[in-house]
Amino acid sequence: MITAPHIRARKGKEKLVALTCYTTRMAELLDPQVDILLVGDSVGMVLYGMDSTLDVTLSMMVEHVKAVRRGTKHAFLLADLPFGSYQRSPEQAFTSAAKLLKAGAQGVKLEGGLEMVETVRFLVERGIPVIAHIGLKPQHVQTMGGYKKQGKTESDKKQMLIEARAHELAGAFALLLEGTEEKTAAAITKAVKIPTIGIGASPMCDGQVLVTEDMLGMFDQTPSFVTRHAELAQDITKAVAKFVKATRK
Ligand code: KIV
Repeated sequence: MITAPHIRARKGKEKLVALTCYTTRMAELLDPQVDILLVGDSVGMVLYGMDSTLDVTLSMMVEHVKAVRRGTKHAFLLADLPFGSYQRSPEQAFTSAAKLLKAGAQGVKLEGGLEMVETVRFLVERGIPVIAHIGLKPQHVQTMGGYKKQGKTESDKKQMLIEARAHELAGAFALLLEGTEEKTAAAITKAVKIPTIGIGASPMCDGQVLVTEDMLGMFDQTPSFVTRHAELAQDITKAVAKFVKATRK
């Protein structure tokens, strides 16, 4: 089974591959091939039809972690700390992260810049592996005023470099860079000794993560950086039409 130290040690070596996962059967299908299964708070939008990730609760995350655990033997099982479950204090973050680890996660991911560095240190010192998620932070959609690419200007790039180094020093074993300009992702990847895993952050990162359903073509619209490797929505529609026809006949 892949562990946090294994992932950390992949810096500059073979690219890390991560996919989101929320259910047991999907875990069984993805687990043999990928390095990381992420029970992301994107579960709210992908499975529950929510408008954003803000309504996802810790108890939802715990149940999905348990489901994914049942189907995972090889990959590192990473879980998102959902909005409102960690921002108040490092102690609150520890209580929430411990619930996710008891459910079967091997580490947690949290969104934040310098304001979260103390929390990252607090969790790592108490035995919880942490990935810090910087750049486009979907849980900040209200303050950002939408989902906008980050790290565009020189000062934004400098700020993200400061955040990346601070999280590394605090003990994060990897960084997740979302929606980040290529030059900034490249500079961060060069500046830190821990792996960077990108989503919409160019191929310059040490690895990539995608929302599985986007990659499999489950939705009509997908972000521009996603290559659809299947068209499952069309396949399902065709299969249902065949079943309906056969049954009515
Ligand atoms: O919740 C999620 O799926 C994420 C993305 C980075 C993949 O955090």
